[in-house]
Amino acid sequence: MSKNQLTSERHYDIHVFCCINERESGHPRGSCSARGAGELQAYMKVRGKVLKLGKRVRINKSGCLDRCELGPVMVIYPEGIWYHYQSREDIDEILEHHVIGGETVQRLMLQPGQSVLTPAEPPRIELQVKKIKESPNDVSRYELVSSDGQDLPSFVPGAHIDLFTGPGLRRSYSLAGDPAVRNRYVLGIRREKPSRGGSEWLLDHLAVGDHVSASLPANNFSLDRQATHHTLIAGGIGITPMMAMGHLLMREGASCHLHFCAPNERSAPFLDEIREIFDDKLTLHFDGGDSTQGIDLPSVLKDPSPKEHVYVCGPPGLVASVRAQASHWPPGSVHWEQFSASPVSKAKSNEAFTVLLSRQQVRLEVPPDQSILDVVRSAGIEVESSCEDGLCGCCRTRLLGGVPEHRDVVLTDSEKAIGDEMMICISRGKAGETLVLDL
Ligand code: FES
Ligand code: FES
Repeated sequence: MSKNQLTSERHYDIHVFCCINERESGHPRGSCSARGAGELQAYMKVRGKVLKLGKRVRINKSGCLDRCELGPVMVIYPEGIWYHYQSREDIDEILEHHVIGGETVQRLMLQPGQSVLTPAEPPRIELQVKKIKESPNDVSRYELVSSDGQDLPSFVPGAHIDLFTGPGLRRSYSLAGDPAVRNRYVLGIRREKPSRGGSEWLLDHLAVGDHVSASLPANNFSLDRQATHHTLIAGGIGITPMMAMGHLLMREGASCHLHFCAPNERSAPFLDEIREIFDDKLTLHFDGGDSTQGIDLPSVLKDPSPKEHVYVCGPPGLVASVRAQASHWPPGSVHWEQFSASPVSKAKSNEAFTVLLSRQQVRLEVPPDQSILDVVRSAGIEVESSCEDGLCGCCRTRLLGGVPEHRDVVLTDSEKAIGDEMMICISRGKAGETLVLDL
């Protein structure tokens, strides 16, 4: 074999270097592998074989490519094009468009000198108000359909959507309709006292025929499909996610029972619909405004049957009582969602601490009278939020270092113990702590 032949066999037309560098946890510049680079690169190699990229394309693991804040990153030679990628879809697009098709993928490209990711616009859908039914109990029933008449994105029981009610304003609402009905979303919207503007705006400005933008359905409150019995406990407007759960469980003939708590029949939203959905799997608890006369939680939650799960949604007092009374239930069998902040998390005293925004390379002081979200926004960095009370999960942020004081009700106890995410609208650090955020 001649020297020339050897040289030509070692030549690649396209060379892809992917950073899978591991920095220690909490490194202020971040780490490509901590952001999933290893798994993504393994997928890329598998896809490379399927797509028969051949011997002239070489996909290599590389050490730190020195754009850690933007990771995972890759560079493709001979053009020297840099990409940031986060998902299998990104990989597919890079392989099919750039490596095979020779066209760059603009949306994933990094510019020379770029040190901050361009924020991705979360997908939105356009909805139209089809029906509004007002009721004397401050909760109105809204039916929304897609603006173009198509089926809506599917959802699972317990899911919510956010309605965008103005610049920077969004509110989360549980989907109360039957998940099998694809052409409408049903929401319960309650007039809040006091209102922070979101619900009030909807109730006062959204009429039948009007259009509104919404997020795709997301879920922080899922049914456990392994459970052999589902005990549902709802208070007031907390009934909405339970309605979607009821549609599915009753259709499947699953073992379930709903306990619905309200001061009296008149103030119980959606009562006729709930009776229809749950039939004889329903117990109503009307306490006349005196919680000591309400549901007997010690007896309802006394002895869980094997693989029984309990779900609670409603005011903070009810959620806290259920969690306390079910504290002897097996880990993971108690699920909750709360619609207003608990007085305890709001009453906690605040201390000053520091946040380090790893992608921005910015250090900010958080004073006692401001949240991390306030401080980050004041620094000109856009972060999505909704409830700003630690209830909805919208501001969930990856934590790369430091010990947070979790005050939200979104993360489970085990997620809080792992400590790699936090709700920056409400959770904080102790005095002198430095929290390193993936922002
Ligand atoms: S860790 Fe990937 S570029 Fe540095
Ligand atoms: S904005 Fe809802 S949890 Fe932070």
